[in-house]
Amino acid sequence: MDAVRIAVFVSGQGRGSNLQAILDACADGRIPGRVAVVIGTRAGAPALERAVAAGVDTAVVSPRQFAGGEDEYGDALLSVLREHGVDLICLAGYMRLLPKNVVAAFRHRILNIHPALLPFFGGRGMYGHHVHEAVVESGMQVTGCTVHLVDEEYDRGPILLQTVVPVLPDDTAETLAARVLPAEHNTYVEAIRMVAGGEIEVRGRRAVVKKAPGGASSAGRS
Ligand code: GRF
Repeated sequence: MDAVRIAVFVSGQGRGSNLQAILDACADGRIPGRVAVVIGTRAGAPALERAVAAGVDTAVVSPRQFAGGEDEYGDALLSVLREHGVDLICLAGYMRLLPKNVVAAFRHRILNIHPALLPFFGGRGMYGHHVHEAVVESGMQVTGCTVHLVDEEYDRGPILLQTVVPVLPDDTAETLAARVLPAEHNTYVEAIRMVAGGEIEVRGRRAVVKKAPGGASSAGRS
């Protein structure tokens, strides 16, 4: 099987730790693919610098440069994706809603990582420290991260994989974010491996591991 060609999307000043986890996992074979391009919304983002350091192509496509709005922004993204022969898109700190024409062209082939257990603590405005602050204030004793397929709404598509992380009594948003982040890296790599390996099937709102011949689930998870 050819290596899956991945595009990673980042936003603004994205620091790119999830991107780095994906780059490392492609390099050591945990993900059967390679990052073909990293697409940002603003030049100079640390995440783009990480891509350059890894010898990966980068592109900056700023939504503001398109007078024609979302469709035109989406067309520009699609042309970068085509140019790099992209099979799979991974959002890693991309803060916007993807244009609908991109979602339609890559249906079930776009992943996002969210730093909480969806469907809680997600949706518009729920990003970065806002998520962890809301979790701490809620009194929840567990949080975690979620990798899901992307549809037309924030944080709504079928859930691929989640990891639970404890919330401790003295946590602040910062200490909690620091505990969740390594779980994000591991969970994202594993979810990408599953999707890139063709192990996932979407049934309505559910993403399930396909049954191998003989009835066992191919990844020991159903
Ligand atoms: C992560 O917390 C991720 O869950 C969210 O944006 C953040 C990106 O961090 N979607 P990084 O740039 O990957 O370090």
